[in-house]
Amino acid sequence: MRVIDHISDLHFDRIDALAAEALVTELNDHPAHLVAVSGDLTMRARNREYRAAAAWLGRLKAPMIAVPGNHDITAFYPWERFMDPFGRWRAHVAPETEPLWQDDEIAVIGLNTVIRGGLHLSWEGGRVGKHGLEKLLERLEALPSNLFRIVVAHHPFLAPEEQPETPLAKHAAPALERLAKAGVRLILSGHLHREYVRLHRGAAGPRTGLLRRQQPDLMVVQAGSAISTRLRGDPNAFNRIIIEQGTARIEPRRWNGTAWVPAPAPAWPQERVTDMAARGAAE
Ligand SMILES: [Fe+2]
Repeated sequence: MRVIDHISDLHFDRIDALAAEALVTELNDHPAHLVAVSGDLTMRARNREYRAAAAWLGRLKAPMIAVPGNHDITAFYPWERFMDPFGRWRAHVAPETEPLWQDDEIAVIGLNTVIRGGLHLSWEGGRVGKHGLEKLLERLEALPSNLFRIVVAHHPFLAPEEQPETPLAKHAAPALERLAKAGVRLILSGHLHREYVRLHRGAAGPRTGLLRRQQPDLMVVQAGSAISTRLRGDPNAFNRIIIEQGTARIEPRRWNGTAWVPAPAPAWPQERVTDMAARGAAE
């Protein structure tokens, strides 16, 4: 059995200090095997924000891995943004933006979906780059086959059921297909400051004897903003994820203004999303 506390979108500089302090206590009370942070540690990638984020994360007892979000590269210094976008990340958080953590039950790998910019005005969207995806698939392939595989990325791979037009990481749909085929069972992400769970149902695999093997389902788990005051309707929240006997259970927790309390478990999505991903892959 393994427990992962999935936190996201901390946005140091715009934090609720009471929620932040209480979350350290909450996470340290029964430390998880791993804390996974799905990006946006800072508001504007300023060094003082990074220092505050690193100090806060440094107080957690559990091991921690993190991937950057779109807020974690500077918008103030264009040269730095294009030439060395993750220099501050490396200086304050970790030497890599796509870390790997594994033990004898699970493997958790980061995927960096942040883009430096492009020929369009909105640079907050993310992308699953071709090179990054191939590298990730190679790393997944090299893992022992019995490990429960988890990917952490900032930008979302599936939209909330009631808002299907929500922008996703570019190339998310074909990436989802390939990650499912590579045995990934969970994708943990953030960006939207909304908590929800979607299921990418495993497609029918090759036939073995009389039976057709079914790929296992891949669960896309979104976390709300853990401690930021930049809320978009949902309260501050994080996900406690319990992985046991080859399945994952999500136990979201929310900040009610004075305490971290259990939230209702996410409703299981009913529809098949494989068709949608296949459509995206064909586009
Ligand atoms: Fe964010």
